[in-house]
This record gives sequence, structure tokens and C-alpha cells, in this order.
Amino acid sequence: MMVEPALRRGESLEVVFNAEQIASAIETIASQIRVTYAGEAVLLIGVLKGAAIFIADLMRALGDYPITVDFMIVTSYGTGRNAGASDVRIVKDIDGDLKGRHVILVEDIVDEGVTLGHLMAAIRSRGPASLRACVLVDKPFHRHEGVTIDFVGLDAPDAFLVGYGLDHQERFRNLPYICKLQTSAERI
Ligand code: PRP
Repeated sequence: MMVEPALRRGESLEVVFNAEQIASAIETIASQIRVTYAGEAVLLIGVLKGAAIFIADLMRALGDYPITVDFMIVTSYGTGRNAGASDVRIVKDIDGDLKGRHVILVEDIVDEGVTLGHLMAAIRSRGPASLRACVLVDKPFHRHEGVTIDFVGLDAPDAFLVGYGLDHQERFRNLPYICKLQTSAERI
């Protein structure tokens, strides 16, 4: 079933990754996680809000694999798609101790890498047994931070993307596919 998103004047969407491509990428990541951890329990940490859709589908793709899940919320003033200085703050932290646990940080997209770099350092300092990054969409064109992504789903074009968790001013997160958003003014 196709969804017709409500667009404002001058906006247009072009599908970049459809639902089947996203589902396939997530199945591949789930297989990689199963092989990498070989039955060891893993804690998935999702970064809200964007990763909410991805982590829900990743959890289902992992089926009966032993995982637990937690979430963080960060503010990233002057970073990410705003560009500029790096000021990432954790405003909602995870609940438990990370010592001795196998942790995967789950993000919807990495753009400049500032958010992922900050969170990986913060989590690593808490003494997990291992720490890896899992990202659905890798957009490397404007990278500021040299980040390592261990599990990558999709390689993004250099465009403003929305859908499947990704937003523009909080809109479009619920689209079941990922699109390039353009406006006639091209000011995004
Ligand atoms: C997005 C995304 C990452 C971050 C990536 O979050 O979910 O957390 O930007 O950008 P960076 O690699 O340039 O640091 P956003 O700040 O848009 O918040 P959201 O998850 O609530 O949409």
C-alpha cells in the first residue's frame, strides 16, 4: 500500500530506499549480529527519536536472539544537520550498569558523526565488555568525526533524507520508506 504524505507547498519527495530495501538491510544486520556475538547476550541502546522505528524492526529481525534494549535521548545543538559546533548532551540516560556487557549503539543515520562519536566515547567510558555501532543509513559526505560503524545498513546519497524515523521539523518520521526531501526554495 502506498502512503501519500501531506506535503507543504513547494515540497517534493523522491523515494531513495523502499520498504523492501530497508527490510533486507535490517535482515542482513541481524544476521551479522548473530554471527558476531555467537549467542552472547547483547544490549541494544537506541538513540531517540530517530532510531525508534529502526530498532523496533531490528529487534523483531533478531527473533529469539538474547537481547535487552534501552534508550537514550540527546540534544545536539549546533551539530548534525544543523552543522557547526559539537555540543551533544545526554538528556535521557540508560537505566543500568554497562560493566561487562556487550553493547550495540543503534542509530538511524550518521551524518557529521558528531553524535555517534560523542555517545560511543561516553558509553565506552562506562566499561562495557564490548561496544559496537549499528547504523541504518550512513551518510559520509560531511563527516567531522572519524567514527567507526560496525554494522551498516544503507549507503545514503548526499541529500536531505526523511522517513523511517528521519524527520524534517518532526514530520515524516512515520513514512515506511526513506525519501529525499526537496523544496522549491532548496533551503533545506
Ligand atoms: C539525527 C540522528 C543522529 C544525528 C546524526 O538526530 O538521529 O542522532 O542526527 O547527526 P550527526 O552524525 O551529524 O551528529 P537528530 O538530532 O535529528 O534528532 P532525532 O533523532 O530526534 O531526529
